[in-house]
Amino acid sequence: MELPYAEPYKIKMVETINRSTKEQRLKWIKKAHYNLFNLSSDKVFIDLLTDSGTGAMSDKQWAEMMIGDESYAGSLSFKKLKKTVKNITGFKYFLPTHQGRAAENVLFSTLVKEGDVVPGNSHFDTTKGHIEFRKATAIDCTIDEAFDTSVVHPFKGNIDIKKLESVFNKYPKEKIPFVILTITCNSAGGQPVSVKNTKEVSELCKKYGIPLYFDAARFSENAYFIKKREEGYADKTIKEIVKEVFSYGDGMTMSAKKDGLVNMGGFIALNNKEVFKQATVFNIMFEGFITYGGMNGRDMGALAVGLNESTEFNYLESRVEQVAYLGQKLVDYGVPVQQPFGGHAIYLDANKFVPTIPREEYRGQALAVELYVVGGIRGVEIGTVLADRDPVTRENRYPELELVRLAIPRRTYTNNHMDYIAASIKNIYDTRNEAKSGYIISDEAPIMRHFTVKFKKI
Ligand code: F0G
Repeated sequence: MELPYAEPYKIKMVETINRSTKEQRLKWIKKAHYNLFNLSSDKVFIDLLTDSGTGAMSDKQWAEMMIGDESYAGSLSFKKLKKTVKNITGFKYFLPTHQGRAAENVLFSTLVKEGDVVPGNSHFDTTKGHIEFRKATAIDCTIDEAFDTSVVHPFKGNIDIKKLESVFNKYPKEKIPFVILTITCNSAGGQPVSVKNTKEVSELCKKYGIPLYFDAARFSENAYFIKKREEGYADKTIKEIVKEVFSYGDGMTMSAKKDGLVNMGGFIALNNKEVFKQATVFNIMFEGFITYGGMNGRDMGALAVGLNESTEFNYLESRVEQVAYLGQKLVDYGVPVQQPFGGHAIYLDANKFVPTIPREEYRGQALAVELYVVGGIRGVEIGTVLADRDPVTRENRYPELELVRLAIPRRTYTNNHMDYIAASIKNIYDTRNEAKSGYIISDEAPIMRHFTVKFKKI
């Protein structure tokens, strides 16, 4: 009998989470205006809002916290982190930042100008935000297969080389400061990018003289998928794959809250000395001196350990396979979910799940609220509420997909929790035809409404 995977760790400390009754949750969610962001965490049983900064650190990371060097300049924890980043990514220069979007702010302040275009594979919201804030345009060149939840493709995060080349031909080189490749591609559902595609993108970029940067928040999970799915990589170590992937680019921004296995942190790593020098100025202005950049010394030490741990196969196997375990359970129950499963999250397809609720009544949000009421589980709508209104017409934008994301924090929940989540969803699925109406918005902010929007039940 083939042995199943098992977590390569045991539990040393536990944190109590609160169970509650359906009646209590109905009361709390009404008080929160049916917005899950308004719930305090003690009212949530299993929190799948995000996998960002919500994971558990190891004993070795905590040990490193105790010997953190909090010197303003020349911190030894900084040195440790710098050396680790160099070892793992191969990039020469390094700047710490307080999180991923801060790294984007610093790097894009250096590279992006008004009127520029930045092609990539479904840019993450903050990445797009930092591009558009500078009056530049993010152009999505992801392969078409990514937008059909029922198409099974091993690397749905890939860039369509033809789409990318047409952007290169349409705009002068000076208007394209870089291409950004997000690994794994969060906005496409945590889908990976292959080495082959990375190489092709890199070669095309070189041909046109355009730099290639990675948004590397989930680079380890991306490498795991490469090892499992791409021909020629089964016998390579994760660290070897990571090194190879990064060798095709000029630099990266990192939200360390994901594959850094820390609760807060980020960085920029790159090869170009001139860009590094310019970015250093912005880093000092926005983040802090270059040997801490918004991070505590102890957090830099913990991140150095976290980067090494997240690039170990046994950890990644238990991490990614736990997400797949939940996905497979749901598939077995007949629940419509995005496939193949992402590295960090499972996405419920609300268009197929609750077609009886009109889109105008926010069916994704309705499903997310129901999941909270039934199971005390907090996911997040990735659909019409998040897509916001058209800035000109102020009409709702209806995206192709109406999803509820269940992001799994790293090393935090057990498979019993996954069973509980799957059973809660199955119970909702079994009674889905009874759901006829959703919500109307009673109050919303002019931009980024999803954080503060208030709903009324119809
Ligand atoms: N890039 C990607 C691909 C991300 O998923 C995120 C954050 C960021 C950049 C920004 O990093 O939060 O450290 O500033 N994603 C979180 C999520 C918020 O829930 O998916 P940050």
